[in-house]
Amino acid sequence: MKNIVILISGGGSNMAAIVRAAQQQDWAQRLGVRVAAVISNKADAKGLELARAQCIATEVLDHKQFASREAFDTALAALIDQYDPALVVLAGFMRILSPGFVAHYEGRLTNIHPSLLPAFTGLHTHQRAIDAGCKFAGATVHLVTAELDVGPILDQAVVPVLPQDTADTLAARVLSQEHLIYPRAIANLLSK
Ligand code: GAR
Repeated sequence: MKNIVILISGGGSNMAAIVRAAQQQDWAQRLGVRVAAVISNKADAKGLELARAQCIATEVLDHKQFASREAFDTALAALIDQYDPALVVLAGFMRILSPGFVAHYEGRLTNIHPSLLPAFTGLHTHQRAIDAGCKFAGATVHLVTAELDVGPILDQAVVPVLPQDTADTLAARVLSQEHLIYPRAIANLLSK
């Protein structure tokens, strides 16, 4: 069985969508894949409760307990590797990862970003799309490389930006599409 390890920092709705897809589409039988663990850098991440409710192993590694980014990333990789992952999935994991960490998981580290990359890397993507007068926005699933929010694109979804949109209403519209494309991209990647 191939293991997926999902990293979160907050709500975990993408993680929940992936877990749901794995169950509903019977990834274990069809792809030989299971979500083995959910790891958060925040003990109070809501997604941890969701994972526990599904009997998925959870781990917390608080980045504030480490003196440097590299020290945290080394400990994080050691924790992840206990699950021998075929794929490490960043799902709202709000930490920049060091080049050594990214290199260690080359080709098996994915991220979802709430914009139509290569537009709007970084933070506040929805407000920036509105401010720029974009008529469309969306989300991108990509392989992670050393540069932030750059890396081969695996899947994208497009939504309209409506005249009355706020960052919050646009984020909600984009997020509902994220829940479709992230499971789809993972299933595609692991069925190759
Ligand atoms: C999602 O919108 C995801 O695209 C974004 O954080 C949210 C997490 O939601 N990720 C980033 O901004 C990464 N740069 P979730 O915790 O409910 O899945």
